[in-house]
Amino acid sequence: LNIPSVYQTLSDYFPVGAAIWQGNITGPHSVLLTKHFNSITAENDMKWDALEPTEGNFNFATADALVNFAMANNMLVRGHTLVWHNQNPSWLFKDANGNDMQPTPENKALLLQRLENHIRAVVGHFRGKVYAWDVVNEVIDPSQPDGFRRSKWYEITGPDYIERAFRVAHEADPNAKLYINDYNTTDPVKRAFLYNLVRDLKQRGVPIDGVGHQMHSNIAWPSTADVIATINLFAGLGLDNQITELDVSVYTDSTTSYASPPQDVLIKQGYQYRDLFRAFRYLKDEISSVTLWGLADDHTWLSTPTRLNWPLLFNEQLKAKPAYWGVVDPSQLP
Ligand code: G3I
Repeated sequence: LNIPSVYQTLSDYFPVGAAIWQGNITGPHSVLLTKHFNSITAENDMKWDALEPTEGNFNFATADALVNFAMANNMLVRGHTLVWHNQNPSWLFKDANGNDMQPTPENKALLLQRLENHIRAVVGHFRGKVYAWDVVNEVIDPSQPDGFRRSKWYEITGPDYIERAFRVAHEADPNAKLYINDYNTTDPVKRAFLYNLVRDLKQRGVPIDGVGHQMHSNIAWPSTADVIATINLFAGLGLDNQITELDVSVYTDSTTSYASPPQDVLIKQGYQYRDLFRAFRYLKDEISSVTLWGLADDHTWLSTPTRLNWPLLFNEQLKAKPAYWGVVDPSQLP
């Protein structure tokens, strides 16, 4: 790949971001964040349950704090996420009588109206501040014959909620870049369903700018060949690509568990980060940003009380790991 092997910063080829929470915008975490990153995503604070806990009542306080921090530090903000099957308030899928929604024409109209109200309010509130939105998240399920996840959204509206979400988001902020976001996009079956969906959306004039590839990875997966093939596939439709939730698990199975990360595993992780970023930089004309799904290993969705993980660039003491050197100067790796 025709790219230099030593980099000045993480973000020399494209903006590089981190998913953050409130604890990251003060103290040492905020110093680390502004030193190395020039974009942020709210890890949870822009999801539906956080922003509209009861119908029509919006709570922007925490999200605003993150956005104001980003603005004050010249950082971009990616919005995550307008429509998802997780982290929704319980009222969202109740019918007019307060019962669980069943698929009827009335409920379809009601749910699409709620979707429209939410997107207009949220995208409108952040207009001019959030430059890119994950409009719909994780709508593909390759185990379904038609590839559509059987979420409550799908059950009540069919695939119509997807198109409606993009159209309303575009009306609410015509300058925001709009993405469909998903995981395992290098999987050939899932990728094909996603490709057919976005091609169809584009053909019908739906305002979609690109594909967000979450890229929750591990030290042996995915391969750079699969990443390159995937990004080029979507770029061939004239779509932008963003890497939206990158992390590299130290585990390659679901049973291994370390009390602390073995040094050889951290070095393998460094090489995996090197390889992934080499591919991203090689694809710099097709990829407009890369976001890590967390700032440092002291806070990651992959760690549970019974099974820790260390998937990010900085350790629990906020010090650079081999993973960081794999990205900015692989010659430092043993
Ligand atoms: O906010 C509540 C808090 O009030 C409560 O006391 C506490 C007790 O468990 O839970 C808190 O909610 C947690 C929330 O994170 C905020 O910390 C939820 O339990 C927990 O499930 C939730 O996890 C988030 C997860 O999405 C939910 O599905 C992770 O932090 C977040 O990293 C993760 O992010 C997702 C992306 O949005 C989409 N792609 C996959 C990615 C990883 O799962």
